[in-house]
Amino acid sequence: MTLLPPTDVLETERLVLRRMDASDLAFFVAIHADPDVARYTSGKPRPPAATEAGFQDVQDSYAKACLGPLTVVRKSDGARVGRCGLSDAAIDGVAPPGGLQRAWLFRSHAPADAQPLPELGYTFGKAHWGQGYASEAARAVYAYAETQRAFADIMSVIHPGNTGSLAVAAKFGVRYIGEVDVSGTPFKRYHWPLKGPQLASSAR
Ligand SMILES: CC(C)(COP(=O)(O)OP(=O)(O)OC[C@H]1O[C@@H](n2cnc3c(N)ncnc32)[C@H](O)[C@@H]1OP(=O)(O)O)[C@@H](O)C(=O)NCCC(=O)NCCS
Repeated sequence: MTLLPPTDVLETERLVLRRMDASDLAFFVAIHADPDVARYTSGKPRPPAATEAGFQDVQDSYAKACLGPLTVVRKSDGARVGRCGLSDAAIDGVAPPGGLQRAWLFRSHAPADAQPLPELGYTFGKAHWGQGYASEAARAVYAYAETQRAFADIMSVIHPGNTGSLAVAAKFGVRYIGEVDVSGTPFKRYHWPLKGPQLASSAR
């Protein structure tokens, strides 16, 4: 679970992570419209309508699975700086003949027989890169997920060119699993080390 009630926030030295609400929409519309932010995620700037649709998907995943990215707020001034969390993602049970195994960042977009597999993801506004925020936020989400012991595996899907994202994940000892197809683009799939005995991924 990214956040399991009654937990409402994750807190780090400099950051608070909380569920997204409608007041965050303008911030995410703005950062998703930045080509540098979008380069290795959607590939091209996301129009406002796509961010709004994604926002609804996030609200649904909070309600259905207690999963979904969280808004990251800087404590010192209350500014929104990005998002980070575990998404209710899914992958093909087996790769289609001659193709790559497909992954979906929202399970609600996947075929009914896809396997649930949460994805630890992070995206920050460009003005806030290079200050250790992604690592700090990811550390909090990963530590919280570990305490829940609810997952057989946690993945991150990272574009092969996304050096910055891989540098964050590599700090935590992620293991390369193989390539997956995300909306027609090959991404690299990594799994996060999970220390304790975990329940089956269906035991949310
Ligand atoms: C990837 C991203 C989340 C990194 O955020 P960040 O807050 O700048 O990351 P951090 O400051 O925690 O940096 C972590 C490490 O990665 C390194 N790093 C960050 N960006 C880098 C880049 N573009 N190239 C090489 N290394 C990079 C940092 O130097 C740091 O290493 P260090 O601790 O050894 O100095 C941010 O660039 C971003 O939001 N990008 C656009 C969205 C995106 O691609 N999200 C990931 C999808 S998989």
